[in-house]
Amino acid sequence: MYVNYGAIKAIRGINIQVKEGSIVTLIGANGAGKTTTLRTISGLIKPASGKVIYCNEDITNLSADKIVQRGISQSPEGRLIFSNLTVLENLEMGAYTRKDKYKLKDDLEFIFHFFPRLKERLKQYGGTLSGGEQQMLAISRALMSKPKLLLLDEPSLGIAPLLVKTIFEQIVKLNRETGITVLIVEQNAYLALQNSNYGYVLETGELIIEGDAKELIQNEEVKKAYLGG
Ligand SMILES: Nc1ncnc2c1ncn2[C@@H]1O[C@H](COP(=O)(O)OP(=O)(O)O)[C@@H](O)[C@H]1O
Ligand SMILES: [Mg+2]
Repeated sequence: MYVNYGAIKAIRGINIQVKEGSIVTLIGANGAGKTTTLRTISGLIKPASGKVIYCNEDITNLSADKIVQRGISQSPEGRLIFSNLTVLENLEMGAYTRKDKYKLKDDLEFIFHFFPRLKERLKQYGGTLSGGEQQMLAISRALMSKPKLLLLDEPSLGIAPLLVKTIFEQIVKLNRETGITVLIVEQNAYLALQNSNYGYVLETGELIIEGDAKELIQNEEVKKAYLGG
């Protein structure tokens, strides 16, 4: 796939596969094209060429709303929760594309199972949560659309290490218990690879290495460039 912003060639011929039921990580430095890749899968940007195939169907030309309805949901970089809405209202926003008569109570129970902290903060305004809590809320809001594929854009960005650990543990638990497929993009390569099945390394719009996550952690090139030697 190729993705451009006007004259800027952000993604230059990448091919990524995310196996159903797995956790896959795309690592890369700032500006490598990680967010662009996720936004293209979500239908927010259209590629210059190439396709997004999901469950054996070409979804490249579907609108972002339709793609959410098909079961792909994204937690955006920088969280982008609504500061002036409560935690509960933020969660309700995540369910807006659902066609089924969703049961708010069941959905909330599902979310509290993974992020119990949000339960105590339902009436609190989004803007008053800590960075880590906002990240939990952003992931939970994405879960409210009942996705089969969850896209997470830098869940560790700007968050205290202890909460980052908790968030990754819950992502793994979510995957194990529900079978939701997860594609994570991260600059925190070690943490992401440790919690994934497979990984890709993106450098200025191109894939340079891919492999089983455990192998990538041992890879000399990856160690030198992304794992601090
Ligand atoms: N809206 C935009 N308009 C023009 N260039 C953009 C836009 N968004 C991203 N880019 C450029 O595309 C490249 C990839 O950006 P991005 O996907 O955000 O990288 P990452 O998420 O890995 O930091 C960068 O060179 C960035 O400057
Ligand atoms: Mg980004």
